[in-house]
Amino acid sequence: MKDRLLIFDTTLRDGEQSPGASMTREEKVRIARALERMRVDVIEAGFPVASHGDFDAVQAVAEAIKDSTVCALARALDKDIDTAAEALKPAASSRIHTFIATSPIHMREKLRMQPDQVLAQAVHAVRRARNLTDDVEFSPEDAGRSELDFLCRIIEAVIDAGAKTVNIPDTVGYNLPHYFGDLIKQLIERVPNSGKAVFSVHCHNDLGLAVGNSLAAVMNGARQVECTINGLGERAGNAALEEVVMAVRTRQDIFQCDTSLDTTQIVNCSRLVSSITGFPVQPNKAIVGANAFAHEAGIHQDGVLKSRETYEIMRAEDVGWKTNRMVLGKHSGRNAFRTRLHELGIRFEREEDLNAVFTRFKDLADKKHEIFDDDLQALVSETFQDSAQERIKLVFMKVAIETGETPKASVTLSFDGAEQQAEAEGGGPVDATFKAIESIVASGCKLQLYSVNNITTGTDSQGEVTVRINRNGRVVNGQGADTDIVIASAKAYINALNKALDTVERAHPQV
Ligand code: KIV
Ligand code: ZN
Repeated sequence: MKDRLLIFDTTLRDGEQSPGASMTREEKVRIARALERMRVDVIEAGFPVASHGDFDAVQAVAEAIKDSTVCALARALDKDIDTAAEALKPAASSRIHTFIATSPIHMREKLRMQPDQVLAQAVHAVRRARNLTDDVEFSPEDAGRSELDFLCRIIEAVIDAGAKTVNIPDTVGYNLPHYFGDLIKQLIERVPNSGKAVFSVHCHNDLGLAVGNSLAAVMNGARQVECTINGLGERAGNAALEEVVMAVRTRQDIFQCDTSLDTTQIVNCSRLVSSITGFPVQPNKAIVGANAFAHEAGIHQDGVLKSRETYEIMRAEDVGWKTNRMVLGKHSGRNAFRTRLHELGIRFEREEDLNAVFTRFKDLADKKHEIFDDDLQALVSETFQDSAQERIKLVFMKVAIETGETPKASVTLSFDGAEQQAEAEGGGPVDATFKAIESIVASGCKLQLYSVNNITTGTDSQGEVTVRINRNGRVVNGQGADTDIVIASAKAYINALNKALDTVERAHPQV
């Protein structure tokens, strides 16, 4: 009998800490539903004390999810823990994840606390959380640079106080697999009550070793891995869920454990997270990159045709590459449409929302012969963007381009309920459009990134545009999709401006 390896997904919390990756409540619920369908064990939905928006999002995820445990992050502070418990109230199964830093540098410079004070605060936090829920996880932040003796002391104390999971974070991505694996082994051996808790790891990717370190930890007794879809996360990101899960599944000859994930949902989750956050997946990314299963070299193709195992260690269909190609068209009815959305984990509370997406679907089907799953995800994203309380909406746009002439754009926006029109010239049609929009909104933002991807193949494909803007130091991403990429660009820019104009301050858990 193999052990169960628990998968704790933190795309909605640590993933969201990537600059520009912030998600709305509806977007978080959509991703959480996709994670639940993939049978992720624990979904860390956010940091409720950070802002009202974060609280609402965690509460909405807790309401929507039935089969996975929903977790909320809390510093080792009473206010954080009580707020996390409140946000988690609707959950069928909930966990509070509380943490405090334990490395000498963090205790001295950030917390300005003595180790004994840190230990006492950790124990107090775990006890308080245990009074509010049965399932408590504790993390000694920056464990990867903490002293082993102190780690053993604090871990023993929090397990005695009721922590059922002890998570060892390599917060700054400093560790190397051999040493990190040994750290986990030593902790399990030396902490007298280690058998009463699940040991977990949470690795950052600053040296490109997050997955390697996580796997080394699993080989040495860790039975929960914290990870994110596509490796999203602060700085260089977290361990990529798809890589950890497929390494363990593919090398069952080595691992003493396995996850219970439905891996055929991996590609769907990857695309959803990429399209919602605007972080594209590089083509050569393991498992979910467009080239991950494409055999370019002739010799490889020849081998794969004779026997696929010659060059393929996994089957593309096992991670969901083939299944996400279901096609709908202009004659597809509402039932087929609704069924496919359900299969993709998309449900609408209100019938009007389904109707709004269905209308957009029919419009798109008039322009585009076949509608794929990725088109549907983009349609749903847009419908939610429209229904949110947005200050800026695109009413009308016209762009003129002609060889040898300067491109011109004319744009009408509804801004705070009043229609305004502007014209501008630019280096190209997108540049002219952005200038016209900016002349109405006067946001003063700086454009940091502009990228276009085709959602599916073919010249009638929708273009999906991502823009990243910086407004007074606040970085946000915006997305837009359309069969016309200039319109998609305008939608993406407006989406980013709406987020940037929203001035709600959010606390960062680790600052
Ligand atoms: O990286 C880290 O240390 C964290 C903790 C809050 C677990 O994200
Ligand atoms: Zn982290």
